[in-house]
Amino acid sequence: MQITEAKFLVSNTDMEKSPAPVFPEYAFIGRSNVGKSSLINMVTGRKNLAKTSATPGKTRLINHFLINNKWYLVDLPGYGYAKVSKTSKATWDKMIRDYLLKRKNLMNVFVLVDLRLEPQKIDMAFINWLGEKMVPFSIVFTKSDKLKKQQIIYSVEHYKKELRKSWEELPPLFITSAEKKIGKDELLDYIEEVNKSFKPE
Ligand code: GTP
Ligand code: MG
Repeated sequence: MQITEAKFLVSNTDMEKSPAPVFPEYAFIGRSNVGKSSLINMVTGRKNLAKTSATPGKTRLINHFLINNKWYLVDLPGYGYAKVSKTSKATWDKMIRDYLLKRKNLMNVFVLVDLRLEPQKIDMAFINWLGEKMVPFSIVFTKSDKLKKQQIIYSVEHYKKELRKSWEELPPLFITSAEKKIGKDELLDYIEEVNKSFKPE
């Protein structure tokens, strides 16, 4: 799939105010600073579509984008950012969970994880929660440019092993780098494929 049009639509804290669920939707989520906004910019080929930052916790809203007038892309706030108060953490948590459970046109959640780190408790807990709630998801490894080829293979295997502790079947996995533009075609092909199964209500 080529991206010919990508436009920002709306930022929300309330999923009820999201655009009408008339198109298939894909959400990007992961720990703060994992590289969600950078990946979205890389995939859409737009430098500043999603705001990136060296300061974690930059994305605080549900951000909707419309791609090719055909599908929605959503940049969600990162979870697990230590420097926010408990109250605002709980607020974000509820906002994200509400969105993930209630959004009818949501086709897939891309869970981003940093391949350089050991599988993190917070990521595994989130992944397990998605599985239990039967929210379809895939795992996207980010910042692969920071690892050597051998390390990538080792880390992906290590991650799979960890996932197999809870799940018999593994979700689709993608290896990406926003920096080196790796993984773009794989992600877009996957989205194109899943788009075919969208049935508007
Ligand atoms: P929040 O919105 O704060 O949750 O962060 P985010 O997940 O959107 O991360 P963001 O895209 O803002 O990137 C965080 C930092 O990681 C920035 O300094 C990016 O330049 C860096 N970064 C993102 N992707 C890559 C990548 O593929 N490779 C490398 N080397 N750095 C990256
Ligand atoms: Mg962001």
